[in-house]
Amino acid sequence: MTNISRRAIIASGIAGASALGASFLFAVNRLSGSGRDIADVFTTPLPMPPLIDGRDIGNVVTLEATAGTTKFQQGAASRTFGYSGSYLGPALRLHRGDTVTMTVANKLDRQTTVHSHGLLTPSDLDGGPHNAIEPGDVWQPFLTIDQPVATLWYHPHPHGDTARQVYHGLAGLLYVEDSSAQSLGLPTSYGVDDIPLILQDREFSAEGLLSYDNSPAAIQHGSRDNTILVNGAMAPRSEVPAGVVRLRLLNGANARNFRLVFADRRPMHVIANDNGFIAAPAAVSEITIAPGERYELLVDFSDGKLIPLLTYPDTSDSPEASLTPVLLFAPNGPMNSANQYIPKQLADAEFPAVAAAVRRRSFVLDGMAAANDTLTKGASAAGPPTDNGAMPGMDHSQMAAAGGTGLSGLDMGMKMGINGAPFDMARIDAEMKIGETEIWELRSTEMAHPFHIHGASFRILSLDGAPPPEHVAGAKDTVLVRSSAEILVTFKHKTEAGKPFVFHCHILEHEDAGMMAQYVTS
Ligand code: C2O
Ligand code: CU
Ligand code: CU
Repeated sequence: MTNISRRAIIASGIAGASALGASFLFAVNRLSGSGRDIADVFTTPLPMPPLIDGRDIGNVVTLEATAGTTKFQQGAASRTFGYSGSYLGPALRLHRGDTVTMTVANKLDRQTTVHSHGLLTPSDLDGGPHNAIEPGDVWQPFLTIDQPVATLWYHPHPHGDTARQVYHGLAGLLYVEDSSAQSLGLPTSYGVDDIPLILQDREFSAEGLLSYDNSPAAIQHGSRDNTILVNGAMAPRSEVPAGVVRLRLLNGANARNFRLVFADRRPMHVIANDNGFIAAPAAVSEITIAPGERYELLVDFSDGKLIPLLTYPDTSDSPEASLTPVLLFAPNGPMNSANQYIPKQLADAEFPAVAAAVRRRSFVLDGMAAANDTLTKGASAAGPPTDNGAMPGMDHSQMAAAGGTGLSGLDMGMKMGINGAPFDMARIDAEMKIGETEIWELRSTEMAHPFHIHGASFRILSLDGAPPPEHVAGAKDTVLVRSSAEILVTFKHKTEAGKPFVFHCHILEHEDAGMMAQYVTS
């Protein structure tokens, strides 16, 4: 089945729910077609990745990248990858000020790397494409944890094979902690009132097996589907205390954006994004999270009601709101902790002034590098960018037919680039001075691209020409570039010889096809 027809069928599960008006809550609480209630379907207890606290184990952390099998649905065992497990990896809690010895063993049959996304380290410890671990080898970075508390994550980053490895399960959370969450009165009991939600979409065969589409169409748009996993589970239910709960969201999808809303549109109080707490909680009724991004939310479940978290369809321009349930929250008993409130103030962010910028650079994220002409004929950039790259006048199956050979898009030499040039491990695209601040102007062609920088965090100055909303005002490492974005970025971290930092589109198929570049600092 092509992506589009499969998606249309699954998405029609709750079609017709109006985003406005009284029918909203009723409509989304039933899975139409089956006539079943979400409460009868969303019964799998939300799995919690095992928590490893660095201080409990002398700050010596061992991870093994391995192959295994995972049963996502009854009976069918899919071949998957995981870190020290069969799918995903443990949540690592590392403490600010500590030095951590990480030991990563590659038990896969292919080269891998382990990148700590959002962790600010020198480039030889960053785990990007220049830090390859060959099969059977071990990599041992010594990480000095020296940045504000934040929800980060780790995942493979081998050039040309990142999308497939992440898709099959290689990803895990990495928390930077100190005592600031406690002093702010935030929930901190892992898996109880401080809950990680790793959001992914995956495609399954009719037999219920995980399948990966790397056709030219899937490379073009990124791999996307409408079967949603949270912490590796389908149709999960999260038992939460009936109080204020902290949710740590990670979009761990290869390509899909999630535009999330509670079924009753209750407020989400955003307290942190990619690189830490924002200045003060910002209440939103829905939130869009792009691949690679993180948000932390406080949500009040004290009314004790079952409440589904939903996502809008994976497009920017859907005329009618058909919503897909992501997970069901089941408040259960009173809160143990005293954390029953939303703080007024969070962190004092220290950002350089815009006036401190010493230069501007501009980067165009180009999904249509010249080599793709034959694959994409007729799909010129006539319309406005769309969130999933659907081309005006061409659907997924036509895109697939344009490829037509059964070869993967990468095998066929599909290339994407930044400023017209596909990634080259041997080419340095930008040179900066340590301590300097720059303004980067980012532009997307044809579709929205989530842009990510290694080795630096930034502040968003504008999104599509407008000031950014409050909830994205803090320190970021990834930004969804719909048409354009301006960011203010300071380079503080050193690149070691032969190991530049990369920046890239976090649609992993785009990254693998070359929408990535690299910089050095001196
Ligand atoms: Cu999340 Cu270059 O990575
Ligand atoms: Cu990264
Ligand atoms: Cu992209």
